[in-house]
Amino acid sequence: MALLALAVLILLAGSGDPSSPVRAARSEPTQDRASLLAFMGGLRHEPRVQWDANASACEWAGVRCDSGRTAVLELRLPGVGLLGSVVADTLGRISGLRALSLRSNRLSGPIPAELADLAQLKRLFLQDNLFSGVIPPGLVGLTLLHRLDLSSNNLTGPVPFALNNLTRLKGLFLENNHLSGSLPSISIASLKYFNVSNNELNGSVPRSLEGFPASSFVGNLDLCGAPLPPCEPFFPSPSAAPAAIEVPTKRSSKRLSTAAIVGIIVASIVVFLVLLLLVVCLFFRLRRKGAFRTKEKSAKGSESGTRATAAATGGRSIETGMTSSSKDEMSGSASALVEAERNKLVFVGSGAAEYSFDLEDLLRASAEVLGKGTMGTSYKAVLEEGTIVVVKRLKDVTAAKPEFDALMHTLGLTERPNLVAPRAYYYSTDEKLLVLDFLPAGSLSSLLHGSRGAGRSPLGWESRMRVALAAGRGLAHLHTTAQLVHGNIKASNVLLRAGDLDSAAFSDFALHPLFHPAPRIRPAGYQAPEVLETRRPTFKSDVYSFGVLLLELLTGKAPNQASLNEEGIDLPRWVQSVVREEWTAEVFDAELMRYADIEEEMVQLLQIAMACVSAVPDSRPDIAEVVRMMEQITDRTEGNDGPKSSQVDPATGAGDVGN
Ligand SMILES: *[C@@H]1O[C@H](CO)[C@@H](O)[C@H](O)[C@H]1NC(C)=O
Ligand SMILES: *[C@@H]1O[C@H](CO)[C@@H](O)[C@H](O)[C@H]1NC(C)=O
Ligand SMILES: *[C@@H]1O[C@H](CO)[C@@H](O)[C@H](O)[C@H]1NC(C)=O
Ligand SMILES: *[C@@H]1O[C@H](CO)[C@@H](O)[C@H](O)[C@H]1NC(C)=O
Ligand SMILES: *[C@@H]1O[C@H](CO)[C@@H](O)[C@H](O)[C@H]1NC(C)=O
Repeated sequence: MALLALAVLILLAGSGDPSSPVRAARSEPTQDRASLLAFMGGLRHEPRVQWDANASACEWAGVRCDSGRTAVLELRLPGVGLLGSVVADTLGRISGLRALSLRSNRLSGPIPAELADLAQLKRLFLQDNLFSGVIPPGLVGLTLLHRLDLSSNNLTGPVPFALNNLTRLKGLFLENNHLSGSLPSISIASLKYFNVSNNELNGSVPRSLEGFPASSFVGNLDLCGAPLPPCEPFFPSPSAAPAAIEVPTKRSSKRLSTAAIVGIIVASIVVFLVLLLLVVCLFFRLRRKGAFRTKEKSAKGSESGTRATAAATGGRSIETGMTSSSKDEMSGSASALVEAERNKLVFVGSGAAEYSFDLEDLLRASAEVLGKGTMGTSYKAVLEEGTIVVVKRLKDVTAAKPEFDALMHTLGLTERPNLVAPRAYYYSTDEKLLVLDFLPAGSLSSLLHGSRGAGRSPLGWESRMRVALAAGRGLAHLHTTAQLVHGNIKASNVLLRAGDLDSAAFSDFALHPLFHPAPRIRPAGYQAPEVLETRRPTFKSDVYSFGVLLLELLTGKAPNQASLNEEGIDLPRWVQSVVREEWTAEVFDAELMRYADIEEEMVQLLQIAMACVSAVPDSRPDIAEVVRMMEQITDRTEGNDGPKSSQVDPATGAGDVGN
């Protein structure tokens, strides 16, 4: 290598003047020559690479031109001690470049985005440098690329799914970087060499890549699935949280023997779970026989096609991965089809238009527990192509399949900005799953109570009002248009969409008919007193729970907060007692005290909330009325302040969180 590198160097004693006339009478790629000189001039180079200014650029070391000497086709400067970051407007201008090798230097900074302009590029070797930042998105426009080697740099960020655009790629080398996230489903027919080892990737190895050897994937943070050891089962038992599963590494070998014991216990749990999963899979497979075998064969080639088909048919359910030919094969075995029908994911509402995956994809997804509730456990599932959904695994469902089907189709139609409706479901004797959109901005509960204390930017008054109003509108729609009782109102079921508080949405609604008796709302403190006995939520009990939610926003106290529990009272009664003793201001969240001139609004909302939490159901207002009263509060203040200054709190000039 060193010899080769030396051979490429032309070390000259004198420093040639770049602008001096070229000796060679033959033609010269003048523009490319200038770009090359600018490129080299922008770098500090340790052993100085000197190109003879008197010679044609086509004779320079590392440069190869076309036969007519009109363009530079290749630039190869491996291991010549190039140092620094590439200046702009240099390499990107050598537009005829087919091959570029700058490997084994000490180039730093981001990979130049302008490489995206080299539309003719077939080979790009940047490995073994100090490039940092993300893989430039523009590289996926270089559709002629055969080989892309970015290995052994300091790259971060995801492996872009759009690399699939490089349809002629034979070799893709990304090993020894700091790439993170999950590995997208890269399926390029021509791909022969692939390496992402020694990065920080996690999740499962996509099916499209499982044909590459394990050494293409080793040394990552948390990759699993063939050819690596299998992933943890999609639905881990409550005792085996994802973090508990750790493949022993060299690093841990020095640890004490307790670690080994824990390892053995964890390993046996894993083995047990894997066996369980295998049995379940085998069961499904046997039941779905021919259907699945044909599906798998065609799935690889038709992943992108499926999405289009599913969207075009707009059907309520889809059979992902089935091409028309495999459908023909299937019609031969009608009974297999009936079996498959029975066991598949059913999309509801606009779910079929939004998503295309099947039960198997879901089972293969890597999952993380979001929360456990009285109705079951919620998981964040990351599918192969990077789609993220929430999967709710319901437990102790008592409803039969027809009731379940009917309710799901009703719920699927309740889509609104302020409601998070199910997109798909799965019903079998042993397993009932709901698939919902994943809203990454979290819940009102975490926004309100998460990491209180130093360094936290509190949820401002205007933000609280907007979220409350958005949730109220969702509930009003549910009650009046869909005629459904929510039955599970609490702050952790108010989800936020990034950057838009007005589209905060209620989730997990109207599921109580699936259970008998209806599950209690947990944490305690939201449930209307009468429902504790009847176990049957009503429109009026929803209004009570909504009132508790408003009190939570006003007081900053969660209804199950320890200080309340110690006194043995619930949030409404605590508020009542404080208000009765005429310390109204004491009731409000201390974090709201920094905002001037909002007390009147807070008192008005407090009055609405207190009406909602009336002990007598009939004296509680309807949700539509509640929303109307809340709108009046904001209308009035907007009137006072003139034109709405939406982002900034008019009183203090302080921006609210989450805008
Ligand atoms: C380049 O050419 C000039 C005259 O045209 C000459 O003086 C100089 O020595 C040459 N440099 C080299 C490195 O050959
Ligand atoms: C994919 O390649 C096509 C050319 O084949 C190009 O027009 C398109 O911009 C590329 N897509 C992306 C995301 O770069
Ligand atoms: C790699 O990048 C990180 C920041 O992204 C930086 O802290 C680190 O020094 C870099 N390492 C090298 C060897 O350049
Ligand atoms: C992968 O790691 C990222 C952080 O690097 C994390 O946000 C994500 O949840 C992880 N995904 C899985 C499936 O573990
Ligand atoms: C991938 O890269 C790693 C690290 O350089 C290497 O050990 C491994 O053999 C490579 N695997 C393949 C299949 O090339």
